[in-house]
Amino acid sequence: MADIETRPELMEKIVALAKRRGFLYPGSEIYGGVGSTYDYGPLGALLKMNVKQAWWKSVVERRDDVVGIDSAIIMHPKTWEASGHLQGFTDPLVDCKGCRKRFRADHLLEGESAGMPGLKERPKDIKEVRCPECGGELTDVRQFNLMFKTFMGPVEDEAAATYLRPETAQGIFVNFANVLQTSRLRVPFGIAQMGKSFRNEITPGNFIFRTREFEQMEMEYFVKPGTDEEWFEFWKGFMMDWFVSLGVKEENLRFQEHDKEELSHYSKRTVDLEYRFPWGWAELWGCANRTDFDLKQHAALSGKDLSYRDPVTGESYVPYVVEPALGTDRAVLTFLLDAYEEIEGGRTTTTESVKEVETVLRLHPALAPVKAAILPLSKKEPLAALAREIRDSLAGRHSVQYDDTGSIGRRYRRQDEIGTPYCITVDFDTPQDRKVTVRDRDTMEQERVPIDDLGPMLAEKVGI
Ligand code: GAP
Repeated sequence: MADIETRPELMEKIVALAKRRGFLYPGSEIYGGVGSTYDYGPLGALLKMNVKQAWWKSVVERRDDVVGIDSAIIMHPKTWEASGHLQGFTDPLVDCKGCRKRFRADHLLEGESAGMPGLKERPKDIKEVRCPECGGELTDVRQFNLMFKTFMGPVEDEAAATYLRPETAQGIFVNFANVLQTSRLRVPFGIAQMGKSFRNEITPGNFIFRTREFEQMEMEYFVKPGTDEEWFEFWKGFMMDWFVSLGVKEENLRFQEHDKEELSHYSKRTVDLEYRFPWGWAELWGCANRTDFDLKQHAALSGKDLSYRDPVTGESYVPYVVEPALGTDRAVLTFLLDAYEEIEGGRTTTTESVKEVETVLRLHPALAPVKAAILPLSKKEPLAALAREIRDSLAGRHSVQYDDTGSIGRRYRRQDEIGTPYCITVDFDTPQDRKVTVRDRDTMEQERVPIDDLGPMLAEKVGI
């Protein structure tokens, strides 16, 4: 258990910053919140959009072998019979007989029971474990299906029962033949989509790490059987490279192979890219070799032929599938945690008596919700008009903020805390030379730049 390094205070700081600066709020807060839901505020919505855009660019736009779709959340109930979710998408549930708290048995075995009195090493059987909250006795394990059930139309009977999708992947499998017919793709090729998924999690928690409503960014890569292992290695490497290219520290990322007993019913092999979250290492992005399981199941239940015929070689087969599946909200949490830095004594204040801890969110410029802040040194003309002119010329191409309130140091600190990579100061020389000072968030270096060069400069610096 000693390997579990925890940084609970970091999580508290991120939650507080997220609320204070408008990244994330507790859902339905005015009614006291509802079951671990969160709403993205103005900055959070921008950050999440940038994360999705970065993923879409790398997985779809830059590749000529991947296309994107956007399928319905409510699917034909047979989908879930075929995929195995109706029968097997369950989590093992235990209740405490004393305090009535509910836990996932697998999580208790994995280490959430760490530090419990009487337990020297990680338990092998749930019977060895007692309630981590009150030490009470636990019930036997019951399997609990995670699908959210609802009814299509006005009558609430079994014939009208449908489910909110627990993964976006099935929307891709049921459209395999449609995409093949309407695009000129040849195996190997991928179909990607991002969107909401729903799971009635027993124990949601750790902020937006595990929620009941969340977003996924998934890609199903269809390959010739026999080439699946090679492609698996490719996409596994891609996952690590993507996070590192967006600034996440390599030492906070690692791969974790699933044991045979841990594998999902459809998987031949699964490797998780894990992040060192404040409570320990946990899954961020899973890569699974789903074989031909899904296509064969959907072919069997729908009666449609979902095999592939190579137009050049004439060979016919059901493709294997390699699936990198990432949670958008988990990615957002990872970027926030990894970017967070506190500087003791600050770096913008030189006066000893007012020195304080300063926060810098070192988000990759492509992910930062605000790309540049325009800061006139005076609210009066002619600086105000020039600053407005700059704001108007950049807005629409970049997300920018205008701030003319408070000392320049305080304004820098406000922007550092939300991760704005560039601050543009309009000063008393600007009316004469039509130049502004651009300050870099990370190096704090300042550069004098002509107003007309700002647009191209930002485009170059904040792109990916
Ligand atoms: N299609 C395969 C699939 O859904 P998964 O490992 O169950 O695989 C993929 O989910 C990713 O979705 C996870 O790695 C995680 O990032 C995210 N995810 C899963 N359940 C989640 C939840 N309850 N809350 C937030 N993110 C979740």
